[in-house]
Amino acid sequence: MNETPTPQPPRSRRVGVLTGGGDAPGLNAVIRAVVKSAANSHYEVIGLLDSFDGLIEPDRQRKLTPREVTGILRLGGTILGTTNRGNPFAYPVSTSEGTQDYSARCIDTFYGLGLGALIVIGGDGTLAIAHEFHKRGLPIVGVPKTIDNDIVSTSSTFGFDSAVSFATDAIDRLHVTAEAHHRIMVVEVMGRYAGWIALYAGIAGGADIVLIPEIPFDLERVAAHVQARDRWGARFSIVVAAEGARPKGGEVLVAKAATPGTVERLGGIGARVAAELEQLTGKEARSVVLGHLQRGGAPTSSDRVLATAFGAKAMELVHEGRFGCMVASRPPDIVAVPLDEVVGRMRQVPVESDIIRTARAVGISLGE
Ligand code: F6P
Repeated sequence: MNETPTPQPPRSRRVGVLTGGGDAPGLNAVIRAVVKSAANSHYEVIGLLDSFDGLIEPDRQRKLTPREVTGILRLGGTILGTTNRGNPFAYPVSTSEGTQDYSARCIDTFYGLGLGALIVIGGDGTLAIAHEFHKRGLPIVGVPKTIDNDIVSTSSTFGFDSAVSFATDAIDRLHVTAEAHHRIMVVEVMGRYAGWIALYAGIAGGADIVLIPEIPFDLERVAAHVQARDRWGARFSIVVAAEGARPKGGEVLVAKAATPGTVERLGGIGARVAAELEQLTGKEARSVVLGHLQRGGAPTSSDRVLATAFGAKAMELVHEGRFGCMVASRPPDIVAVPLDEVVGRMRQVPVESDIIRTARAVGISLGE
């Protein structure tokens, strides 16, 4: 394990905070906790708007006092705005080069604003940018955010529980219509290259088949599972497919290729699985993509608590001068882990784990 960097007290009692990457329910709860804890310790907070754009462009900052964050605990989205196009080290521009390095400008803005620390709330991409800035001397504390739950060194990320709750509710609804029509319903959920949302929502919603990136599937096996259910009288089946799921020997379906400064967008596996299952089983099949509905909406109580704990801990680390770290959940504690240990890695569902054994034990087919 990497060493936690040596503490260095912040140069000023003014802290910047930004949110980067896709939104996740609980972002506002983190911002609120940062602002409230900061006020209690006599720090001032400056919100940077639209991720690192708040350091690239002038006038994209907003002072945050407890008054500004009143009532935001229960709101989805982020009052600071976000973007996943704005890597300042390779910022997309409309010239022949495609990208421009604006990192020096960000560092100038940081000092120009008189900031003593920067709290960066984001997923793997945003935390990797934060890490680069820390290597160039900025006092950074990271807060892990993603509905995908795929960040290493933390047992969970806020947003995940809210996404799973929404997907579970959707599966409950799909059960009703699938059973009425004796159909196969395939529901595609987010998660990128990790199957956490699919697996948890599948178990919580009582799905019959769950397809995750960690276990490439065999559609013949899936079809056999559907037909076996038919034989014992369950004439419908619910399939949950993670957007990153792929058949054995096949590729992940990419809906939009990566462009300079953006990552590839996944999608389409639900429709593909539904069409092929219809062929293989002769049963009617429909597919539903839950998409961004999983990210909107209010955070669940558990995400509000986790996000609040992360925000408060981030301010504690700032006060102690423990920079270059990310706050992480190690129940019942919130700890600091070096960003070094986190960036460039991904936490997938371990194939040999109790959660996988649980799924199998209750008869869920994983398409193996
Ligand atoms: O990482 C969060 C996430 O919602 C993924 O599950 C999904 O693949 C991706 O973001 C979608 O990104 P965008 O909002 O850019 O379409």
